[in-house]
Amino acid sequence: MNRRGFLKLLTSLLGLSALGAFLYPLFRYLTPGAATASAKPLTIPQSELPLDAVKDLLVKGTPAIIIHTKDKGYIALSRVCTHLGCLVNYDKARQIFICPCHSGTFDLEGNVISGPPPRPLPRYAVKVADGNIVIG
Ligand code: FES
Repeated sequence: MNRRGFLKLLTSLLGLSALGAFLYPLFRYLTPGAATASAKPLTIPQSELPLDAVKDLLVKGTPAIIIHTKDKGYIALSRVCTHLGCLVNYDKARQIFICPCHSGTFDLEGNVISGPPPRPLPRYAVKVADGNIVIG
C-alpha cells in the first residue's frame, strides 16, 4: 500500500468512527423505549422492611426511599428535591425529609413544609403482593 492509499484508508476509518459517534447517541435518543421497556417494577420482600424501617432504593434509575409507617403503611418517594435536584435526606427522629442544598423540608408524604421547593417529592405507587412490596 502506498502512502496515498494509506491516507485514504485512515481518513475513511476516522470518518466512519465519527459517523458512529454521531449516530449512536441519535439512535438512543430516538428509541428511548428500548432502554425503558425492560424496566420492571421494583420488588422487595416484605421481610426486608419491618415497621419503622427505611430503605434507600433506585426506582428506574432515580434515587428513592421507602418507609414502612404504622399509620400510612409503605410510602415510596423520590429523593430528588423538586427545587434544584439535590438528594433529600430522611430525618427519622422528626419524620421529615431535609434537602441539604437550600434547607427545603418535606413531610412524610413528600409535601413541601418549608423552603424553596415548588412541588412535593414525586411519590411512587406501592402495592403488596405475595409477601413482596412492589414499587413503581
Ligand atoms: S435543591 Fe432542595 S431546596 Fe434547593
